[in-house]
Amino acid sequence: MKITVIGTGYVGLVSGTCLAEVGNDVLCLDVDAKKIAILQGGGIPIYEPGLEDMVKRNVTAGRLRFTTDIEAAVQHGAIQFIAVGTPPDEDGSADLQYVVAAARNIGKHMTDYKLVVDKSTVPVGTADKVRAALQEELERRAVKLEFSVASNPEFLKEGAAVEDFMRPDRIVIGTDNEHATQMMRTLYAPFQRNRERLITMDIRSAELTKYAANAMLATRISFMNELANLAEKLGADIENVRHGIGSDPRIGYHFLYPGCGYGGSCFPKDVQALRRTAGEYGAPMHVIDAVEVANDAQKHVLLDKIIARFGNDLQGKTFAVWGLAFKPNTDDMREAPSRVLMEGLWERGAKVAAHDPAAAHETRRIYGDHPQLQLVDNPMAALQGADALAIVTEWKVFRSPDFSAMKAALKTPLIFDGRNLYDPASMRAAGFEYLAIGRQ
Ligand SMILES: NC(=O)c1ccc[n+]([C@@H]2O[C@H](COP(=O)([O-])OP(=O)(O)OC[C@H]3O[C@@H](n4cnc5c(N)ncnc54)[C@H](O)[C@@H]3O)[C@@H](O)[C@H]2O)c1
Repeated sequence: MKITVIGTGYVGLVSGTCLAEVGNDVLCLDVDAKKIAILQGGGIPIYEPGLEDMVKRNVTAGRLRFTTDIEAAVQHGAIQFIAVGTPPDEDGSADLQYVVAAARNIGKHMTDYKLVVDKSTVPVGTADKVRAALQEELERRAVKLEFSVASNPEFLKEGAAVEDFMRPDRIVIGTDNEHATQMMRTLYAPFQRNRERLITMDIRSAELTKYAANAMLATRISFMNELANLAEKLGADIENVRHGIGSDPRIGYHFLYPGCGYGGSCFPKDVQALRRTAGEYGAPMHVIDAVEVANDAQKHVLLDKIIARFGNDLQGKTFAVWGLAFKPNTDDMREAPSRVLMEGLWERGAKVAAHDPAAAHETRRIYGDHPQLQLVDNPMAALQGADALAIVTEWKVFRSPDFSAMKAALKTPLIFDGRNLYDPASMRAAGFEYLAIGRQ
């Protein structure tokens, strides 16, 4: 099938590449000429395990191309995926300007039937807005052309995006006509050969499903974070509690890890957008309100522990930070807890020596040559002469470090662990002061 993907970011590039991998002819469009130039030059603009090789393979095979030419992109695909960003607006609602611009471009240039598929995470009712914008452009051109709009929210996880797209646990399709459903069934057939994973529904339910999934996951995290903070005060150990409740099949072990807050491009903005939608429709979601408040507080938990230990004036102190990306296996720094920590440390006069296996480049893009930030290319280098270590992202490489070398490098053997990577008793035995989340 001929597919156009509008927006070649994390979702667009992964989706387009995986759709090419199963034999489709895919053209990816972006308005960011720099991004397209990198892709056309054989590079990739993001870090995502397995993606680079897959892009190369499909480009070489002629199934995957990149362009900034809007008209060519609209002409190409019978299916037009919209995968542009939907960042939060000032009031927390999803900013739909890029989605609507993409729809208008389709209306301006289409000359035959198109199935327009919203893959971006968009509030309920967006498909109607896409339909109206596109129709308006057709009327402006005084042409009558058929098109359908469908919703196909994306559930991939950054860091495992290729695997998630190639082997999805579900594919949610919202449509209002059988022809569109059939086209989506055909498109996704190669991804569900061993069992049916396609769940079809009405468009509004599909749109809401994505927010429901992210809000539920964010709720589990915030719940565990608050429970961990309580456990710490009560003299209990949240790891024991996690095992104790996770073994209940109604609860399960997934997404029960307490930490220093969730970040990324999805949970924070999707929770906010759902709150906004709920408010607009007069159906406030108190649980979701609390999830956001709890997470904002949790992002300060490492800074609070550091202040409790060193006081508010951190002039002359240096803190090593391990992990900058909002989670492992990505270079994405959007809403990352590391940013709250580093900015809080800088404000109080401290310096930061940081290491992240993938996000140094992105950190430099955000902070430039910040005078209080030194980025180093291995974990041990960050520790040299530092007053303490703060662990923010649970990259695998941090799980089993050389503790005696760490002790020798740090000025004080003190670790603030925002991801509970180590066993507190062993750390004490090894001579560390070890402050984790919800543990003694
Ligand atoms: N990142 C994730 O893990 C993830 C997972 C599921 C869903 N989503 C959702 O998918 C959407 C995209 O997220 P992302 O992380 O890929 O964003 P992103 O910022 O990485 O990519 C969006 C791209 O769209 C481009 N763009 C904007 N307007 C355009 C236009 N009119 N025409 C062509 N290109 C245009 C931008 O230049 C950018 O490259 C969001 O709604 C997000 O919530 C993201």
